[in-house]
Amino acid sequence: MLAGVAERDLSVEVLGLRSPVPFLLGPVGVLSIVHEEAELGVARASKATGVPLILSSAASTPLEDVAAELGGAPRWFQLYWWGDRELAGSLVDRAGAAGYGAIVVTLDTLTLGWRDRDLRNGYLPFLRGEGLAQFFSDPLFLERLEAPPEEDLQTASLTALTAFPNLALTWRDLEWLHERTELPILVKGVLTAEDARLALDHGVDGIVVSNHGGRQVDGAVAALDALVEVRDEVGPDATLLMDGGIRRASDILKAMALGADAVLLGRLYAYGLAVGGAAGVEAVIRQLAAELDLTLALAGGRSVRELDRAAVT
Ligand SMILES: Cc1cc2nc3c(=O)[nH]c(=O)nc-3n(C[C@H](O)[C@H](O)[C@H](O)COP(=O)(O)O)c2cc1C
Repeated sequence: MLAGVAERDLSVEVLGLRSPVPFLLGPVGVLSIVHEEAELGVARASKATGVPLILSSAASTPLEDVAAELGGAPRWFQLYWWGDRELAGSLVDRAGAAGYGAIVVTLDTLTLGWRDRDLRNGYLPFLRGEGLAQFFSDPLFLERLEAPPEEDLQTASLTALTAFPNLALTWRDLEWLHERTELPILVKGVLTAEDARLALDHGVDGIVVSNHGGRQVDGAVAALDALVEVRDEVGPDATLLMDGGIRRASDILKAMALGADAVLLGRLYAYGLAVGGAAGVEAVIRQLAAELDLTLALAGGRSVRELDRAAVT
């Protein structure tokens, strides 16, 4: 109390990526099922607010189109490392050419988890060609099809789906990715000190502590709990992000206090998109930023970067 908090700073910088707030728009795929503006709506909100977007490999919009919408606004690209290495490489090259500033490799979804409701409903939007825009805009992928997706959507979708799983991937494969791109590489989906150590030993530039919003392994440890163990392992200087369950400002402050350099939003902005397209995402961002500013002040903080474990019990 009485800490003199008239001036406050919510900004962060992560691997050269600046954000006015300590949250980024994390990779959420297939946003066409949420709103017709899909990833372009998210890009508009990102550009309007300066909060960077991490575009999903499973987006409904080609990464070049999202980059065009973003203009000069900073962005990263999330990589689902397809089982087909040449296709994955093509995606990495395209992301670099389109001005994405880092590659975030998702480790926890080398194939989709067991999702009861989707199974019950026989629901897989990829089968209808949704969320496959990176495949359908890839010259290498299109070369391999006998007929383009406009003419035979089912075969194109199945071909893409078949190229997706990659359960044989190991840490050593990161060497190939380092050779393929000069962009910083982050890995997303780390939940243990052991994996964090392996990631650093294999030259990654940053780690995202995440259990994929609880969508992959039932009963996985909560990302916020894992964050403490991971920060202890990697030390104070390593770049560490987290996501999962961020719904309001205090969630962010707790994550920052427990060792995150920034957090990612997932469902929260997807809900905004569902309700109001780009304006809905922007409303989520602005309300969360305002709530964060107020909560930081009332908790006696001047900068989100200065919070430490003493801020939580
Ligand atoms: C509908 C949906 C789609 C997602 N798609 C991706 C994706 O394409 N790539 C990825 O790395 N993570 C994906 N995620 C996981 C998010 O990036 C993030 O880890 C998770 O949503 C965080 O939890 P939260 O939704 O509680 O914020 C997805 C999550 C949801 C809910």
